[in-house]
Amino acid sequence: MRLGVTGAKGLLGSAIVRCINNVLPGATVVPFIKSDFDITDKDAVYKAVSGADLDVLINCAAYSAVDKAEREADLAYAVNATATGHIAGACASTGVKLVHISSDYVFDGAKKEPYTEDDPPCPIGAYARSKADGEKEVLSKCPGALIIRSAWLYGHDGPNFVATILEKGKSAGKLNVVNDQIGSPTYTDDLALAIGRLIEKKATGIVNAVNSGYCSWYDLAVEALNLARLDNVKISPVSSEEYKTLAARPKNSQLDTSLYERITGAPPRHWRSALKEFVI
Ligand SMILES: NC(=O)c1ccc[n+]([C@@H]2O[C@H](COP(=O)([O-])OP(=O)(O)OC[C@H]3O[C@@H](n4cnc5c(N)ncnc54)[C@H](OP(=O)(O)O)[C@@H]3O)[C@@H](O)[C@H]2O)c1
Repeated sequence: MRLGVTGAKGLLGSAIVRCINNVLPGATVVPFIKSDFDITDKDAVYKAVSGADLDVLINCAAYSAVDKAEREADLAYAVNATATGHIAGACASTGVKLVHISSDYVFDGAKKEPYTEDDPPCPIGAYARSKADGEKEVLSKCPGALIIRSAWLYGHDGPNFVATILEKGKSAGKLNVVNDQIGSPTYTDDLALAIGRLIEKKATGIVNAVNSGYCSWYDLAVEALNLARLDNVKISPVSSEEYKTLAARPKNSQLDTSLYERITGAPPRHWRSALKEFVI
């Protein structure tokens, strides 16, 4: 199997390139970065996808700066929605199976329980809207594609919340972290394996893939600091109202993994266990 990965130097793309052969041992990974082709260039996308003799393309290329997107909404939309449409069209016309990565932020957080794949998206910010419309592009242009919704990623290959907390924990004596947003923290190495398992099972449509269990950003930060034995940090829970950000974020973005478990037969491991492996 020849498996292309866009955004191959990003947080998730790098983890896929490193880990996917653990679950798809025979696959040849073909990494693409922005200098190979810019996904907003429709002709370049079609040329690259048709010329690479791929069986599967995992689209990890994205505009991922949630707050900055409020000031660069057009650019976020061009990459996450319009360019996703180019990739979906190119995969459909060449018979390449598309696996597109989407986000828990397509939801507004008003639901009290975890979100399932059947819940309708209701995005509340520029990044979120661009991701929700990217899903629509894939669903309308590429039948048989797989959209994987994931959340709260951390890992070895790029900036992320857990790495920032550990870094700040070493330098700052005091941290304020939001405790009224609840979600599904997910280790990119685990997500890479989950993506491989879904490809192996030929999954289509929308599937949530995250580590199991839920917590707040505050809980996640406390656990990471404890695991790293950074005991001297004074960490305080604060509300979203106290910790203002440019983009509003959902108060609840827990993702239900029942469908993933039914498809793969492999329940995702708990976020605490995954975090321990990452930190220690
Ligand atoms: N991070 C999270 O917590 C999170 C949560 C849920 C879902 N997701 C989704 O997971 C996917 C991967 O996210 P990530 O965290 O790995 O993001 P990331 O680290 O920012 O990686 C995205 C990659 O896309 C590349 N890229 C950006 N614009 C491009 C363009 N026009 N053409 C080609 N490549 C381009 C970037 O390259 P340059 O750096 O060279 O621009 C970067 O390597 C995204 O779809 C994101 O929405 C992320």
